[in-house]
Amino acid sequence: MALLVVLLVFLVTAIYVVFFCNLCDTKKPDKLKEKRFENFLLKKVDLSVRTTETQGKKKTLSPLERLKQEVFQHASPSCTGTKRVIVAYGTEYGFSREVAKKIAERLSQHFGTDSISVRLLNLLHWEIVDWKREELTLVACSTTGDGVLPNEAKDFYDGLKEKFEEGELQNLNFAVLALGDRGYPHFCRAGKLIEETLKNITGKESIVARGEVDQEDWPVIEDWIDNVIGCLDNKDLLTVTTSADYLEEALDMKFGTNDVNGYVGSTFPDAGHSKENPFLAKVLERRLLTKYELSDDKEVLHIELDLSNSGIQYTPGDALAVLPTNCPKQVERLLVALGATGEEELSSSDNSPISLKNILTYNLDIKNVKPELLMFLRQCAYSDNDLKVLDELLDVEKGGLSKKNEVLRGYLASREVYDVLAEFSSASVDLQKFVQHLRPLSPRYYSISSSSLVDSNRVSITVAVVRYELLGLDRVGVATTYLADRVDIGNRIPVFLSKNDNFRLPSNGSTPIIMIGPGTGIAPFRAFLLERERMGSTGRNVLFFGCRHKDGDFLYANELQAFVDRGFLDLFVAFSRDQPKKIYVQDVMLEQSAFLWSLLEQGAHVYVCGDGTRMANDVHEAWLRIISSHRPGCSREDALEFMEALERNSRYQRDVWIT
Ligand SMILES: Cc1cc2nc3c(=O)[nH]c(=O)nc-3n(C[C@H](O)[C@H](O)[C@H](O)COP(=O)(O)OP(=O)(O)OC[C@H]3O[C@@H](n4cnc5c(N)ncnc54)[C@H](O)[C@@H]3O)c2cc1C
Ligand SMILES: Cc1cc2nc3c(=O)[nH]c(=O)nc-3n(C[C@H](O)[C@H](O)[C@H](O)COP(=O)(O)O)c2cc1C
Repeated sequence: MALLVVLLVFLVTAIYVVFFCNLCDTKKPDKLKEKRFENFLLKKVDLSVRTTETQGKKKTLSPLERLKQEVFQHASPSCTGTKRVIVAYGTEYGFSREVAKKIAERLSQHFGTDSISVRLLNLLHWEIVDWKREELTLVACSTTGDGVLPNEAKDFYDGLKEKFEEGELQNLNFAVLALGDRGYPHFCRAGKLIEETLKNITGKESIVARGEVDQEDWPVIEDWIDNVIGCLDNKDLLTVTTSADYLEEALDMKFGTNDVNGYVGSTFPDAGHSKENPFLAKVLERRLLTKYELSDDKEVLHIELDLSNSGIQYTPGDALAVLPTNCPKQVERLLVALGATGEEELSSSDNSPISLKNILTYNLDIKNVKPELLMFLRQCAYSDNDLKVLDELLDVEKGGLSKKNEVLRGYLASREVYDVLAEFSSASVDLQKFVQHLRPLSPRYYSISSSSLVDSNRVSITVAVVRYELLGLDRVGVATTYLADRVDIGNRIPVFLSKNDNFRLPSNGSTPIIMIGPGTGIAPFRAFLLERERMGSTGRNVLFFGCRHKDGDFLYANELQAFVDRGFLDLFVAFSRDQPKKIYVQDVMLEQSAFLWSLLEQGAHVYVCGDGTRMANDVHEAWLRIISSHRPGCSREDALEFMEALERNSRYQRDVWIT
């Protein structure tokens, strides 16, 4: 009997165990999927490889391993028995890195890694390179701010000039691909400066003509790479090296783990928060700064975020970058055009699964159309009319995919991704290939409008919300509506700091400052005023502000008035639409011509912030007129030279952007 009971208990237990385990097993795949999906979301826009497969398990790489993976991805092991090249990049917003990767990829495809080892390097790490041993460097560098080098490339530029004499690097050949935007006054200036310096210290000409890239003009980039490859095919510039690559050891020495006095640590710089590793800042406050009643009214928000425990230390002049998500309504619209539910499972670049809806919401730019997307649709469309229109748009005679193709440019300027899918509806697209033709969703930058001297744990930004109609449909700015509509007080949003050493208060507090900031261009000047007041700076503060209506979009009106009442600010305003004749900041500046000239004579620093398309140029012209009228016999050229001298001495600083 006892045996029977034992057997019965055993049987029941066995059935229970088998049944329960099965139950768990059936849940396993979903749970696993969820986990992997969470991981993907954490990774967000970084579609590059971050992990390596180790016996089926994923291993997270250390910062040094990640760096080495990037540097040597297109090199043979230890780079022995091959020729060697350095492809270096200087980037502010990430595009030059993408371009440098393309250069490295094309070179290694053409020559093979057993023939040429291409090492890819952020110019930030320029010092670990033994430039005397290198034979060829290809530099892709963007221009930022008002014609300056990206932060991470500045040391390289200054350092090379300091470290090497004229003609000292005789072994080194070079070529420069300058990235920029023709909308800015100093087109591709950083690339030009780097090329000049390389010419000087090598005593040589560049191996191919400098490439100048207007925005993301890939055909120009590809042409430049073709030229480089052609040159390397024809000229014998490189020798085969048999020794192991010193660069690997140099990276280990600089960033490897060391044991010092029993303390084990790494010298890898604490990268802090970045696009790949943003800080999740809590939204503390959001208030409307304008009268927003009609759809045509300006909607500008003051947003305060909590930086406690972030380690972020900002200075007035810096910007805060926000990583937004796309608007669900716009994502839904796109899914309808794709004839998809959104549940379709796609794989990301590291092969983890992600749904179409999530990749469109979190990772990809669904507004700006890459010209290559039209080429892709051309391959999937079958209606005669769609093919005809696409052929006309992509006509090689007109410039094909390049910026030279005015017809294509005009077309893309007024279309979002949804519009082209809706327009070429005969295209039956493979979803995985389709997403590969979209750009990554990029961070948006906002000039900081607070001073950390008032509260180092708080930061504020001043955001003009973008809403408009296009082709009969309502459209939204991604980040501004994310901040306005899709986050609540108490929610956390991903941010990181973007330093701007080219927009700084004078170190001497008694120096007068002239600030010109219409619209949201006021943001850094609010920070300047708060900072100068806290510091007890005695220098005069003069602000020119402009907006449409005094009682509509006069940002921070009460605060500015309070500064005026305390005798801390001279405020000049231009309300463009409060009278029949439009008045802008440059008009008010001209009215104050004598006063402004006297401030310049006292050593004033001049700051301009805001719209870079028109305002910055109009203000520049106003300065030229002011200078010409107060300096006897001063020509336009003299006035230009005067402003350039101010700029060289950091007395004329501009923080302007084109949206
Ligand atoms: C260094 C720096 C500092 C900045 N500081 C500030 C700041 O302090 N405050 C601030 O508000 N912004 C600032 N900006 C701009 C900001 O980064 C964003 O570009 C802006 O907020 C728009 O972002 P969004 O994602 O909402 O719009 P997006 O989704 O990027 O949409 C903008 C695009 O929509 C289209 N568009 C907009 N309006 C229309 C229209 N009427 N008709 C047709 N198309 C249209 C245009 O193609 C435009 O490029 C700054 C930019 C930089 C680079
Ligand atoms: C705030 C800002 C300032 C810029 N200033 C310039 C400039 O002065 N001259 C220029 O040619 N391009 C300028 N650009 C355009 C960038 O160089 C261009 O977008 C480039 O592709 C960015 O490359 P990156 O992502 O590698 O930094 C500016 C872009 C921004 C956002």
